[in-house]
Amino acid sequence: MSTVSDTEVDDVVDTNAPAEDVEIEEPEAQDSDVERAAKHTPSAIPLRVEGLRKEFGGIVAVDEASFEITEGTLTGLIGPNGAGKSTTFNCITGVHEPTAGQVQFNGEDITGLSPDRIANRGLVRTFQIARELEEMTVMENMMLAPKGQRGESLWRSVLPFVRRSVSEQEEEILERCWEMLEFFEIDHLADEYAGNLSGGQRKLLELARALLTEPTVLLLDEPFAGVNPSLEERLLGHIHDLRDDGYTFLIVEHDMDLIMQNCERVIVMHQGRVLTEGPPAEIKRNEDVIEAYLGGEVE
Ligand SMILES: Nc1ncnc2c1ncn2[C@@H]1O[C@H](COP(=O)(O)OP(=O)(O)OP(=O)(O)O)[C@@H](O)[C@H]1O
Ligand SMILES: [Mg+2]
Repeated sequence: MSTVSDTEVDDVVDTNAPAEDVEIEEPEAQDSDVERAAKHTPSAIPLRVEGLRKEFGGIVAVDEASFEITEGTLTGLIGPNGAGKSTTFNCITGVHEPTAGQVQFNGEDITGLSPDRIANRGLVRTFQIARELEEMTVMENMMLAPKGQRGESLWRSVLPFVRRSVSEQEEEILERCWEMLEFFEIDHLADEYAGNLSGGQRKLLELARALLTEPTVLLLDEPFAGVNPSLEERLLGHIHDLRDDGYTFLIVEHDMDLIMQNCERVIVMHQGRVLTEGPPAEIKRNEDVIEAYLGGEVE
């Protein structure tokens, strides 16, 4: 089992560090060099999509889409209905196998891996709560969510006595579930059936479940759909807090104002292709984007 490559990311950082100041006599000077290198390091690209294509029978849902997502940013993926946004997410996260193209996560080719293997590497998307999970409580949903226990199966098989600590581990998981529910301020709903939650509360639960896999990059497909304005604000606040902590987000959303006000970068898809990408101010006045939206269904 391969692990996600913090070291590889570090390697990239090192190669790109300025090669000046080679004297390393004083430890203090070394520290400041490291700090300086960190400041001047080009941002890491955890997710890279190249020439992605997905066909369903005769329909080309995604047509040679290529883009990069920068670490620690909030990027919006927009486009008219049927532009291929959800299919792109599905191809990135292993739900669909792409017809062609490549998905790279932290520099490794993850194209065609299963969703759980991709999630284990730290790339997750939120899923709507399935009908059978509606009949379980919020906490049961949390406990059933796949957990980020990278390497667990390896050390379990190598060290059988570790099994004894399983209940300890379950305690830990329970504690993390509580922490996550508290973070999203839905801990008071722990015993509520998921089916009884409001649209917004469900979105919070979906995000809480996704975070249990210990992701570094999260793909959110219309996370604010059916969410009332006050919960939307809370959800956005959480996303900003997580982004400030270094998480990376790619968000599909039809509310243009929301995307423009919250994302550093916006990627526009149209008829399966990446039409353009850039900072929100540029996207807003891009003639091709205006045309694409006016030509299709206006949101
Ligand atoms: N499983 C599938 N089988 C056949 N066609 C599909 C499938 N999934 C998507 N499509 C088609 O692929 C195209 C892109 O769909 P997709 O759902 O990716 O668009 P979208 O940008 O997410 O749209 P929306 O904004 O409405 O959610 C559409 O023409 C859609 O009908
Ligand atoms: Mg969609």
